[in-house]
Amino acid sequence: MLKMKDILDEKDNRLRQTSKEVTFPLTKKDKETIDKMIQFLRDSQIPELSEKYGLRPGMGLSAVQLGIMKRYFVVVNEITEEDAVEQEFETYILINPKMISNSLEQIYVEEGEGCLSVNRPVDGIVPRYARVTFEAYDTEGRKIHIRAREELAICFQHELDHLNGILFTDHIDPKNPFKDKDKMRGI
Ligand code: NI
Repeated sequence: MLKMKDILDEKDNRLRQTSKEVTFPLTKKDKETIDKMIQFLRDSQIPELSEKYGLRPGMGLSAVQLGIMKRYFVVVNEITEEDAVEQEFETYILINPKMISNSLEQIYVEEGEGCLSVNRPVDGIVPRYARVTFEAYDTEGRKIHIRAREELAICFQHELDHLNGILFTDHIDPKNPFKDKDKMRGI
């Protein structure tokens, strides 16, 4: 089981490096890592479990955040309906992902973006595309196309940045953290 301490902090230089393309078939170790990442993100979004295991809630996690310099990430998106008894989630696994198209419209997270590797409050706007299409491979090496919008689109862009050594804080101008706010939509 993954713990918070397994996740690299922003001060760790590995988070600044570009991850390498994955070759197929996936190793048993990578498959296990992916399962652990999914479990971690899921648990982190279930209040009783996040409290029990001391997990900060997270929606996405890239291999590099565990010190594995390979181009893959997982996203666990809560899709619980209002009247549901149990929380429900959808899971995405993207290997060697590429963003192949994007909307012109840009959005940002109003309360500020977060990252499991950034353990401090950061104010400011991170411009992201409102809608994106990603091409990637699944765990069996099959090519997949995924369209995402709103929060999920932001998450995909945030995780793709990780594979290129970029953190969300890099997109914020410290001298003017709310620059261009009026040019995009807050969500
Ligand atoms: Ni992150």
